[in-house]
Amino acid sequence: MKTIGLIGAGHIGSQVARLAVARGYSVVISNSRGPETLAPLVAELGPKARAATPDEAAKAGDIVVVTVPLKNYRQVPVEPLAGKVVIDTNNYYPQRDGHIPELDNESTTTAELLQAHLPASKVVKGFNHIYASQLTTDGLPTGTKNRRALVIAGDDPGAKTAVAKLLDEFGFDTVDAGPLKEGWRIQRDTPGYGPRRNAEELRQDLAAAKRYAEQ
Ligand SMILES: NC(=O)c1ccc[n+]([C@@H]2O[C@H](COP(=O)([O-])OP(=O)(O)OC[C@H]3O[C@@H](n4cnc5c(N)ncnc54)[C@H](OP(=O)(O)O)[C@@H]3O)[C@@H](O)[C@H]2O)c1
Repeated sequence: MKTIGLIGAGHIGSQVARLAVARGYSVVISNSRGPETLAPLVAELGPKARAATPDEAAKAGDIVVVTVPLKNYRQVPVEPLAGKVVIDTNNYYPQRDGHIPELDNESTTTAELLQAHLPASKVVKGFNHIYASQLTTDGLPTGTKNRRALVIAGDDPGAKTAVAKLLDEFGFDTVDAGPLKEGWRIQRDTPGYGPRRNAEELRQDLAAAKRYAEQ
């Protein structure tokens, strides 16, 4: 695993790219406006980074991170992501994304929507509950006491193992919330969404999470 593809190069995408390059990965970053608009970020990231279209970033990545406003998830290329591990950072904010009835009625979750859009990919929810800026400040070496933990959720055990390994390299412990349908436990307005938590605290937060209808 050598290359991380990024679909979305905003707050989270640029930070994941910085972490990846710092750990020796190559990155292929993309956005909606075109590769030329990413020249300053590529210059900052150095020779291990290049900008491309979303299609090319999807093709190039051994792991691909989808980190766009949720309202645009249907624009993520499908075919080049078939068979790949796809990390979904996305959250639902109706004021930004418009109302999505199946999220409002909680019959599905954000990452399940992306998985339905990418049926042949292995979607893992990740990086969704940490502020972008903290991705490059809060990481600590493996085994550090009270290390910050991040939640993953997914339906493919191998994909989750790969993402947990990446998170460890990036400086974070992992708490596995279970299958994608359990991802609601770390959605907006749940206890674990935002604050710095170690693994034990985050497990307690997941257990204490309430559905929107119960809040
Ligand atoms: N910000 C945070 O701290 C944070 C933390 C955790 C999770 N999240 C979630 O992660 C996602 C990304 O958040 P963000 O704050 O990084 O957003 P952002 O700063 O607004 O960046 C969004 C990126 O997505 C790109 N994009 C939009 N539509 C696209 C498309 N159809 N194809 C390819 N790229 C596209 C944008 O490109 P253009 O600029 O060219 O349009 C931009 O690079 C959101 O769902 C957010 O809720 C954010």
